[in-house]
Amino acid sequence: MNNLKIQSYTIDRTDFEKRNQHRGFALWFVGLSGSGKSTLANGLQAKLFENGFNAVVLDGDNTRLGINKDLGFSEKDRIENIRRVAEISKLFVETGHIVINAFISPFESNRIQARDIISDTDFIEVYINSSVSACEKRDVKGLYKKARTGEIIDFTGISSPFEAPIKPDIVVKTDEQTPDESIDYLFEQLKTKL
Ligand code: ADX
Repeated sequence: MNNLKIQSYTIDRTDFEKRNQHRGFALWFVGLSGSGKSTLANGLQAKLFENGFNAVVLDGDNTRLGINKDLGFSEKDRIENIRRVAEISKLFVETGHIVINAFISPFESNRIQARDIISDTDFIEVYINSSVSACEKRDVKGLYKKARTGEIIDFTGISSPFEAPIKPDIVVKTDEQTPDESIDYLFEQLKTKL
């Protein structure tokens, strides 16, 4: 028994959503390193902002430099990484924000855990779909090269597994579209949910 009790607050989610004039929910971008998650998160946040929506971005590269700097890339650490950021997302969603989560999140069971933490009705899984070969060809950060030589171990898509989403709510094919096309597509898909 830890003697903890959930505290309730005077201003609740409905109050925030009423003032924001939109609902809170989490977008969960899933995809390989270099698939375009951060680029699309950035572009979509800007588009939402211009249209009067409050959107927060949580991104693996950034959160791993701060709250998750104690975590590496073993399966266990990746699972803990996603659990923590899902808990953070939930706090934002409950205060009426749209949260754009950009994490490789390579394991299906772990994504289900994130959906459970945030709640099924507030969770939209977006598969940022780009093949390993396309990501490797671009290799923006030079990490695929290092993964091939063994300088980086447990690299997703090369030496660590990536389980593609089974039933994503939205699929964005970044191999076939420009970033602007993908951002417009995402915004159109979201309009019904805002
Ligand atoms: S996740 O698998 O735990 O969801 P996350 O999205 O937080 O990963 O972090 C991925 C980012 O970390 C990549 O975009 C890349 O820049 C960097 N990175 C460093 N080492 C690895 C690795 N072994 N596998 C994947 N990404 C790595």
